[in-house]
Amino acid sequence: MQALILAGGEGTRLRPLTSTIPKPVVPLVNRPFIVYMLEWLRGHGVDDVILSCGFMADAVRAVLGDGAELGISLRYLEEPRPLGTGGALKFAQELLDERFFMLNGDVLTDVDLSAQLEQHERTGARATLALVEVDNPSAYGLVRLDGDGAVREFVEKPDAEEVDTNLINAGAYILQRDALEAMPPAGTTVSIEREVFPRLVGAGLFGYPASGYWLDIGTPARYLQGTYDILEANVATEMGWQLSESSRPRIAAAANVEGRVVAPSLVADRCEVVAGAIVGGRTVLGPGAMVGRGAHVEGSVLLAGARVGARSVIRSAIIGAGAHVGDHCHIEGGVVLGEAVKVGSGNVLMAGARIFPGVDLPDGAIKF
Ligand code: GDD
Ligand code: MG
Repeated sequence: MQALILAGGEGTRLRPLTSTIPKPVVPLVNRPFIVYMLEWLRGHGVDDVILSCGFMADAVRAVLGDGAELGISLRYLEEPRPLGTGGALKFAQELLDERFFMLNGDVLTDVDLSAQLEQHERTGARATLALVEVDNPSAYGLVRLDGDGAVREFVEKPDAEEVDTNLINAGAYILQRDALEAMPPAGTTVSIEREVFPRLVGAGLFGYPASGYWLDIGTPARYLQGTYDILEANVATEMGWQLSESSRPRIAAAANVEGRVVAPSLVADRCEVVAGAIVGGRTVLGPGAMVGRGAHVEGSVLLAGARVGARSVIRSAIIGAGAHVGDHCHIEGGVVLGEAVKVGSGNVLMAGARIFPGVDLPDGAIKF
């Protein structure tokens, strides 16, 4: 079975992480994010994946190659400019099979695509959308269903007063190629959510209310939530199964740990946790990260080569690759430091502050 993954967005809501790394390969629990999607797809019989890229496509290709390591054939399509979710689909037309999956490339999920496919076949649909429930549908595509599972209405990013159901588009579709016929010609910018699905209502558009885990990882808060959920095996992933085999934190053999690591946590190769430091729970240290004497890192992610100075406290924060946090700093509340940021000692950063790559904060500059 074939799958087309849309991975051409700029990931603006995940900046500054996505200022230097394209969203599909941002490390999540030390693996390129999209690998979770590829393993999930493979588990439902997908062996042929077309990755629809735009932004930093070469960087994605450099990380994932031809997919051989994952046992999937991986091909890349590069749009000349972002064509939107529908334009990207049309751009891929020549390569598409009669029936295929189409996925938003930023969801962490274990929904049952095989059951969705079964329903798709039973109803003879032209398009079947996986639907999930969320507390607040306003940032998503709201879907109203008829009793027989046909979609009655599709409202992208509904206003508060339009919200009368919690069911939203999960960004996982099964499409028949003939659903593309009525679309504007290739090369035009088209939103599948605003221009294609509303037109398919009454013409073979069905919804499949899915159960299971589902999260769009596109903001720092949700990126951290996804990290915790993989570590705690709330979502079915191969990484989570490996981690939950034991109640002890997972520490790579080539890490040097003299401080304390609290499960669930993952400590990669070449990390250093100095005596008196506490790491965890729900914490991921990327390769070569360092936590200094008496520092405390909790509910956070340190990407490769990030360093935290002595007696600093890091909580619910993301520290970018190669970023350095000085001594006696306090960083919490969804703060994101971009790649190679330097935070001098004695700084206090809170409430979702985002520091862009390469910025150098002098000692004691911010006491927010
Ligand atoms: N190739 C390509 N070209 N991909 C694109 C483009 C483009 O021009 N624009 C967006 N994408 C990709 C993004 O990289 C992402 O993986 C996916 O399409 C969806 O775009 P987002 O920008 O993340 O959309 P959203 O999260 O606001 O809303 C979408 O996802 C929700 C579920 O997470 C919609 O499909 C909603 O209906 C849905 O509920
Ligand atoms: Mg999204």
